[in-house]
Amino acid sequence: MPDSAAFPVQPASLPFYQPVADECALFEHAFNHRLPLLLKGPTGCGKTRFVAHMAARLGRPLYTVSCHDDLTAADLTGRYLLKGGDTVWTDGPLTRAVREGAICYLDEVVEARKDVTVVLHPLTDDRRILPLERTGETLEAPDGFMLVASYNPGYQNVLKALKPSTRQRFLAVEFDFPKADQEIPIVAAESGLPESRVAPLVRLANALRALKGQDLEEGVSTRLLIYCATLIRSGMKPERAIRAALIEPLTDDADVRAALLRVADVTLG
Ligand SMILES: Nc1ncnc2c1ncn2[C@@H]1O[C@H](COP(=O)(O)OP(=O)(O)OP(=O)(O)O)[C@@H](O)[C@H]1O
Ligand SMILES: [Mg+2]
Repeated sequence: MPDSAAFPVQPASLPFYQPVADECALFEHAFNHRLPLLLKGPTGCGKTRFVAHMAARLGRPLYTVSCHDDLTAADLTGRYLLKGGDTVWTDGPLTRAVREGAICYLDEVVEARKDVTVVLHPLTDDRRILPLERTGETLEAPDGFMLVASYNPGYQNVLKALKPSTRQRFLAVEFDFPKADQEIPIVAAESGLPESRVAPLVRLANALRALKGQDLEEGVSTRLLIYCATLIRSGMKPERAIRAALIEPLTDDADVRAALLRVADVTLG
């Protein structure tokens, strides 16, 4: 079993991440026991930042891959490329991560095609191997290698669901937007706007989030709140910033937009 203390902590280059629950401890346990981890949660709630923070904290390089339905297994593992008349094998990000003992983060993994998830299977059980058919190699993942994947269950449809044989290879943790007393300091730290001015924006975000499922597909993300606070901090009028960052991105429907603006008026008085 690897000892995470063997990997140096680098506080100076640590991306800021405010823990919301016990997710940092869970990540460390998963890493120490060489178990893959699945992060579930809505857009803009901090999943990517969390992985960047934990990779730096554990002193591991990070390879991030955004999955989409054109992504092939070869995009992950590698392929032969023509270089100056020769064909040269070039590792993909997953292979590089396995060779280096890095963290490989597969964002929106439900978008990946079946042939991609098949490549992940021998890496995500106790074999921890990556067979490379094209080169004839079978790589054994070193202790420092960890596979992390994320997806947004809100967008999931039956066709896109992860197969049980894939999802049951990962530990899983659910992310949600931080509670107000945690989100206010996060938005203030990221935007530079004082907490007293961030607080009403977070109150509005939570009022808008309460409408999710009725008129809105997704609630206001922490990311949008940070955009809003950043605009206000740089001198934009709050009403204008709120409209551009917290209202318009949520809907294209004129009636829904009018309803959201009314919620803003009522919430902010
Ligand atoms: N707990 C947190 N600590 C510090 N910053 C946070 C936290 N949560 C969210 N943020 C901020 O919110 C922004 C958006 O988060 P992030 O990009 O990690 O979201 P995500 O969950 O990966 O979204 P998506 O699913 O769209 O990729 C980050 O850039 C960061 O500024
Ligand atoms: Mg992300």
